[in-house]
Amino acid sequence: MSAIQLSLFPSIHHQCHISRQSDLLRERSLNVKISNGRVTCASVSLDTESLKNLEKSAVHSSKKVIEGAAEFLVGTYARAPIVLDHGKGCKLYDLDGKEYLDMTAGIAVNALGHSDPDLVKAIEDQANTLIHVSNIYHSIPQVELAKRLVKGSFADRVFFSNSGTEANEAAIKFARKFQRYSNPNETEPATEFVAFTNSFHGRTMGSVALTSKVQYRSPFEPVMPGATFVEYGNIQATKEVIQKGKTAAVFVEPIQGEGGILSATKEFLQFLRSACDDAGALLVFDEVQCGLGRTGYLWAHEAFGVTPDIMTLAKPLAGGLPIGAVLVTERVSSAINYGDHGSTFAGGPLVCQVASVTLDKISNPDFLKSVQTKGNFLKQKLVEMLGRNPHVKEVRGMGLIIGIELDVSASPLVDACRESGLLVLTAGKGNVVRLVPPLIVTEQELELAAKILADCLPVLDEDSSKS
Ligand SMILES: Cc1ncc(COP(=O)(O)O)c(C=O)c1O
Repeated sequence: MSAIQLSLFPSIHHQCHISRQSDLLRERSLNVKISNGRVTCASVSLDTESLKNLEKSAVHSSKKVIEGAAEFLVGTYARAPIVLDHGKGCKLYDLDGKEYLDMTAGIAVNALGHSDPDLVKAIEDQANTLIHVSNIYHSIPQVELAKRLVKGSFADRVFFSNSGTEANEAAIKFARKFQRYSNPNETEPATEFVAFTNSFHGRTMGSVALTSKVQYRSPFEPVMPGATFVEYGNIQATKEVIQKGKTAAVFVEPIQGEGGILSATKEFLQFLRSACDDAGALLVFDEVQCGLGRTGYLWAHEAFGVTPDIMTLAKPLAGGLPIGAVLVTERVSSAINYGDHGSTFAGGPLVCQVASVTLDKISNPDFLKSVQTKGNFLKQKLVEMLGRNPHVKEVRGMGLIIGIELDVSASPLVDACRESGLLVLTAGKGNVVRLVPPLIVTEQELELAAKILADCLPVLDEDSSKS
C-alpha cells in the first residue's frame, strides 16, 4: 500500500527523510481517480498533526539529530539511539513515527503522562500571566504550592530548588546550619553525614558525596568531606556510625530507586528516627524518586509510619518541568536566615503553578488508590509472565516503582524491549530492569509492557551464548 501511495507522491518521497512513510500516511485520506487502468488524478488531505510531522521529518532525520548530539553536546549521557518527538498519555513517538509504550516517565518524572490537558493548560495560562520574577519578590503560585505541600505533609515550611540534587544540596546546608544554630556553645558543631550503600542523591559536590557509587565521586574528588556509608538496612552497623556531636544528618531513601528498587524496612527507618533523636542529628528522607504518589502513598515514608525532619522532592512535582523542594519542620527552619541559601530560578510562578495542578491530581485519594491497585496488578503480571525464567531473580517494589532483578546485565533486554516498542530503564548494578511508568498508566498498558518484556527475555540467552 505504501509503495502505491509513494509512487503517487514522488515529491514528498523525494523531499523527506522518512523511513516509515506508511505511518505518516496512515492518518490521511487519499482520493485516487483511475481510468483505463491508469492513475490520472490523486489528492490527499492531511490533518494538521500529520502535516507538522511531515514538515519536521523533512528538516530533521533521526540520524542527523544523533550525529548533531555527538558533535555538539558534552558526552555525559549514553543515550539510546532514538529521537523522541512527541507523546500522549503513556505513548511516545520518535521522529520516524514509531510508537513506544513509556514505562520510564522521563525517569519517574512524567507522573501525569505526556501532554496532560490540565498540565498543558496550566502552562499556557501561567505563561500568559507571569513566568519568572526571581525570589526578590513574592508571587502567588509559590506560596500556594508551599501551602499545599505543608498541609499535605509533616512539614511546616518549604524551600524550593530546581532539581533533586539541588534539593539535597540545600538539605545538607540546612543540616549544617541547624547544628551550628542548635549548639551555639560548641566550637566544632556536628558537620558529618551518614548515607547508605546503593544510595543516589545527585551529582553536585555535596549530593554526590552522599551517593554511594564510587565511579560518580572519584573523578571529582575532593567532594564534600565527612560522609560515611553504611550498609542499607543494617541496624547494627548504622548504630556505630551515628554519633552525637559528629553526625549532622542521616540521608536515606525510603525506597532506593537508582540503587535497584530496594525498600527499607519499617524497623530500619524507626531505628534511624530514634538514633537521630538520640544523637541530635537530623533525619533526611530523599523522596526525589519514590515520593509524590509513586508508591501509592503520597509520601513513601507513610508506608513505614516514620517521619523525617527534612524531606527532599523533585522529579514529578511539576509533571515534567524542573523543580525541587525541601520540606522542613519549624525546628529546622528556625536555624535558617536571610541569605543562607537561594536560587534565581527556584519557585518561579510558572513551575509552581504547574506543580500545584500536578500535586492536586496526584494527592487525590482515588488517584493514589489506583496507583496501589495498578502496582499490584503489574507485579502480579510480571511474576506470572517472567517469574519462571531462570534469569529472573526477583520482582520487587511498591506501587509503580518496580524492579526486576536479573542474574545478568539488563541492557540487552532493555534494548530488545525498545526495538519492540517498550521503553524501560535499568537500575542497580545494571542488572535490574526498572519500571516507573506515568502514574496514569492503564492496566492494559501494564499488561502489554509485561508481555513485551516476557517476549524479549530470550535475548538474555542469546546474549550470554555470544560471550
Ligand atoms: C533519590 C534521588 N535523589 C536525587 C536525585 C537527583 O535528582 P536530579 O537528577 O533532579 O538532580 C535522583 C535522581 O535520579 C534520585 O533518584
